[in-house]
This record gives sequence, structure tokens and C-alpha cells, in this order.
Amino acid sequence: MSSQLHREKLLSLFEENQEGVIYLKGAENMYRYGTDYEFPFRQESNFWYITGVNEPEYHALLDIGSGEFHLFHPKRDAQFAVWHGRIKSAAEIREEYSPDHLHETNDLLRVLNQLKPDVIYCLDEEQAEFIEDLNRDFSVETETLQDAITYCRCIKTDHELQLMSEAARVNNIAHLEVMKAIKPGMFEYEAKALFDFHQAKHGLLQPAYNGIHAGGTNSAILHYVENNKRINDGDLYLIDAGYEKDGYASDVTRTYPANGRFSGDQAAIYQVVLDALNKSIELVKPGVKMEELHLGACRIILSGLKEHGIVKGSIEEMMEHSIFALFFPHGLGHFLGLDTHDVGGYPKGVERIDRPGIKFLRVRRELMPGMVITIEPGVYFIPALLGPALENSEQARYLNEERVRALFGFGGIRIEDNLIVTETGSENMTDVPKEIKEIEAVMKG
Ligand code: GLY
Ligand code: MN
Ligand code: MN
Repeated sequence: MSSQLHREKLLSLFEENQEGVIYLKGAENMYRYGTDYEFPFRQESNFWYITGVNEPEYHALLDIGSGEFHLFHPKRDAQFAVWHGRIKSAAEIREEYSPDHLHETNDLLRVLNQLKPDVIYCLDEEQAEFIEDLNRDFSVETETLQDAITYCRCIKTDHELQLMSEAARVNNIAHLEVMKAIKPGMFEYEAKALFDFHQAKHGLLQPAYNGIHAGGTNSAILHYVENNKRINDGDLYLIDAGYEKDGYASDVTRTYPANGRFSGDQAAIYQVVLDALNKSIELVKPGVKMEELHLGACRIILSGLKEHGIVKGSIEEMMEHSIFALFFPHGLGHFLGLDTHDVGGYPKGVERIDRPGIKFLRVRRELMPGMVITIEPGVYFIPALLGPALENSEQARYLNEERVRALFGFGGIRIEDNLIVTETGSENMTDVPKEIKEIEAVMKG
């Protein structure tokens, strides 16, 4: 069982002879404000990783000395069964999660008093306070655990990679189905409904994040989630969406013209983004730093925009002045796993680079085999960024004003794939058409 391996991995980071107990609190149900409207349950990722439990109101202890796993389940009464369904027996819970010791949650204090740990490692202040409230004599520590679990989660096990591959496989199908079906006149939510249908048809029910289904200028809004406008003839359509398989995310973006035929500018700018994507993917391998890939992609984007008369001047100078960030204002990619923006991008002591665009890069560490990353360059025409830049002489001298203003209604293009870093390079789990000819052929039917 995968979580057994995760527990072993975590415990191996603690010194031999180290005493103490690791405490983890599982998520509870969440309700909309003060009402009884219940959000779909989704376990907190660290708890899911260590225990394998995706049910509310559990707690866990790991005894570092003995390596034993104590799982605490909520006691359910008949009313629970009436409203929520059958109550699992202790035997069923044991069978499913294989704890060394199974207890009810109200035994947590008793078990901790028995174990008498010198120190209780907690994930954060909130969980530490929960433990301190049980007994003021407990000594809690919040410096170690988060970093330790994060370190484990960065490198995926084979089982995790299988789950991620399944999330990716279904996402490939759902993206392709939308690409085949989209037509001018459809509403963004119709495209979303079709996408969601194909995920559900393959058993995936939990979106990994709020999907972006953006027509026209909405495609230049990085986190557009209203998804409620009509998609018009001549519009680009950008879809950035994915679901989870047993908690593990897929996060894929495609952009194409809703009418199935790229216009001159659409094809030109699309190809710039695609070149940045393909080149970055080629370079992914162990030892490479994400910030180097990011800056490489920026250089490709600037060269392409220059070729198409959108920017002008020396690429070196434009790099120095961060002109790329006016068109590509987000990071090139991020870790992917139990969270879409998965943990571990910034190990302790590594800071963000304080520079436009790259400051939003979510990973600054050397790539290693077993990591899973996204690569997602984009080019957007965002009047809120480009308008002021045209008024700023330091930036305006690199912009072809007429061309830039004419593209204010263009929208944006992002292309995003999900990669496993291997010993020699990478394996691309995303297999949705992305070459212009391929896309046009699919959309033609
Ligand atoms: N949709 C979020 C991302 O691509 O990072
Ligand atoms: Mn995405
Ligand atoms: Mn992403």
C-alpha cells in the first residue's frame, strides 16, 4: 500500500534513536458559511499522503521510535447512518488502512499520555495548538514536519506516478473531446460541461482546480473561472483544466481558435508559444534549474514576438528590462502531485527572484528523477499591463505600439503539458494535439 511506503520514507528522515511522535490531523467537512450546504469532502494532502485516508475527522500518530502507526477514527452513531450512510466497522477500517493500532478519536489524549513523547511534531501552529489544548504539558514542535513531508512528496513513488498517469490519460481524452466539439456560438459553460462529463465518465469526480474555459479576451485572464460567456467566431478558446485520480492532479492547457482555423496572427503567436514549450521540454532533465528554463522560454518568446513585429530592439536589452513579463507574466511551471501547485518548489533558504514575471515561478530547485512538473509558457495581450508599458518610455521603446494596440483584443495563448522527470530527460504524460496542423485536422473532423 502506497501510504505505508510514504510513512517509511518520512520516518527514514528522522535520526536513528530519535524519539517523539508525529501528529497529523485529518480534514473535516466544510460548509458554506453558516448553512448546512456541505462542500464535497477532499482530504488535506499531507494527511492523505501519510495515511491513505480520504474520509473526514480522522487523526494519526506515528511513533518515531517504534515506527508504529496509530489511526484514530470518529465514532459514528445511528443518526450518521440515517443521513450519510452505512457506518464502517473497525474491522473494515483496519482492512482498508492497515494501522498498527486503531482507536477512536476520543482516545487521542489517552494514547498520547501512554506514549509520553518528549516531543510531538506537528505540521503547523493550528495543529500544534490543538495538541496543546489537549494537555498543556505536551511539548510541540512545528519546524521539522512540514519540511520532511514536503521533501518526501517531491519525488513520486511508482504508485503515485501510476495514479498521475491515469489522471493524465483521462485528461487527454476529455481535452480531445472538447477540441472536437467546440463551435462558435457555444457558451464557455457548455464546453466546461462536456469536459466535466468526460472526466466523470472515466470515474474522475474531483476537479484538481477551478477549470478555466475562456473564449476571446477572457483567455488573457490568467485565473478566469466565470466560464459564462459566449464563444464567438474568430475567438481563441483557452481551456486549462484537469481532474484528480485518488488525489493526484492533472493540469493541462490547450488554446485553439473556436472556428477550427488559425488566423495569421493566431498561428504566428501560437507557434511562438509552442516553440517555447517544445524547447523547454527538450531541456528537462535531472540537474536543470527551473529558473534557467523559464528565462530560456522568455528568450524564445521575445525572439518570436520580434520576428512578428510586436517587439523591437536587442533581445539582450529586452531580457535585461524584463520585457518578456509584459507578455508572459507567470511562471513557466510548477510541481504537480496531490496539489496542483504541489509542495517543495522552494526548499528552505531559497527565495523568490524579485523580478517581473519570474517572481511568480513556483519552483526554484534542480530537477530530479521522479519529480512531476508542468511546463506552461504563454503569451497574452493584457491591456492592464501593456497600456501602462506603452506610456513608460523605458518599456515603450521596445514595443511596436501600433501592432501591440491592434492586438489588445487578441486574448492569450497558453500551452501546458505534464512531465515526469526521468534519469535521462522526461516522459510527457500529456498527449493532446498541439501542433497547428494536428489541431486543425481534429477540429475539421
Ligand atoms: N491552472 C493552474 C496552473 O496552470 O497552474
Ligand atoms: Mn493549468
Ligand atoms: Mn499549471
